[in-house]
Amino acid sequence: HPPTSQMEETSLLRRANCRSKGAAPGFKVAILGAAGGIGQPLAMLMKINPLVSVLHLYDVVNAPGVTADVSHMNTGAVVRGFLGQPQLENALTGMDLVIIPAGVPRKPGMTRDDLFNINAGIVKTLCEGVAKCCPKAIVNLISNPVNSTVPIAAEVFKRAGTFDPRRLLGVTTLDVVRANTFVAEVIGLDPRDVNVPVVGGHAGVTILPLLSQVNPPCSFTPDEISHLTNRIQNGGTEVVEAKAGAGSATLSMAYAAAKFADACLHGLRGDAGVVECSFVASQVTELPFFATKVQLGRNGVEEVLPLGPLNEFERAGLEKAKKELAVSIEKGVSFVKK
Ligand code: NAD
Ligand code: LMR
Repeated sequence: HPPTSQMEETSLLRRANCRSKGAAPGFKVAILGAAGGIGQPLAMLMKINPLVSVLHLYDVVNAPGVTADVSHMNTGAVVRGFLGQPQLENALTGMDLVIIPAGVPRKPGMTRDDLFNINAGIVKTLCEGVAKCCPKAIVNLISNPVNSTVPIAAEVFKRAGTFDPRRLLGVTTLDVVRANTFVAEVIGLDPRDVNVPVVGGHAGVTILPLLSQVNPPCSFTPDEISHLTNRIQNGGTEVVEAKAGAGSATLSMAYAAAKFADACLHGLRGDAGVVECSFVASQVTELPFFATKVQLGRNGVEEVLPLGPLNEFERAGLEKAKKELAVSIEKGVSFVKK
């Protein structure tokens, strides 16, 4: 039988007593869309994260099953499930971090923008819940098209009077994860030792890997640059085609989302030097949103870092990226304004 809420409260109190004897406090994290292809492995990874004390799993289907399953893991976080719109407010109240992978994925032949009609409304509703129930929470937005859903979320928060640009982050970590893997393959390094900044946005040509800024520094032939840029920009499509109608990246995405959420939690805890790429409100270009490296801290984005020096190939890529991004951003903004 599931534990009664009284047992759960007693358990939380006991743990709080243990914590007051020295261990660091944990954070409260909600996943919206927790029963999905990304949501389930992400729930498992967040349940393992030692910085998480409470994990809320919300979905419109199957949330009780996923919750019962994940809750049996003997790791620290207390897990609670929430099913359907009437339980959204309870799922969100008191949360420090809200991760949103709710929405439909691509099938072969579709662009991420083809998901707009369904996912825009889902993201709008969920963000209205965030504005009402946990306006100070950090939001990690995964639902596609990220280039439009982040502007949608910002507009919803502006209308509610809760918008804090430091707390809204579009998750582009999978682009960096892929770039690190593919570059490591080409130069013969362990992917864990490679760091490739990926800027711009999260769709096609808006995904702009900065191969001139790879760490450790290395040089590529023009063929390698063309192959790597292409593969990084089309990594999502590579998975969509391989899955042949069964969805898009879920496991590598859950890994990437857990890595990014962990970085946000380390920032919230006050750790120094936490830097990740993310699609955020930005003044790095003339566009209102752009992905670059950001420094994470107690309030979310503490600093949006500059692009750094670009070579000619990257400058041309940046112009293409900005053109497409402007349209996607405007589409998101006008969806809420209409
Ligand atoms: P999925 O269909 O397997 O899961 C989506 C889940 O969202 C389902 O469980 C569904 O019930 C739930 N859902 C639908 N409407 C909801 C609502 N109103 N409230 C709460 N939950 C709701 O899809 P997936 O493979 O997990 O992908 C989810 C989204 O993430 C897609 O839009 C996909 O394109 C996107 N994605 C983004 C990235 C990225 O890098 N940012 C990577 C991969 C996938
Ligand atoms: C990805 O990059 O894998 C996601 O954005 C999913 C997709 O549709 O490609």
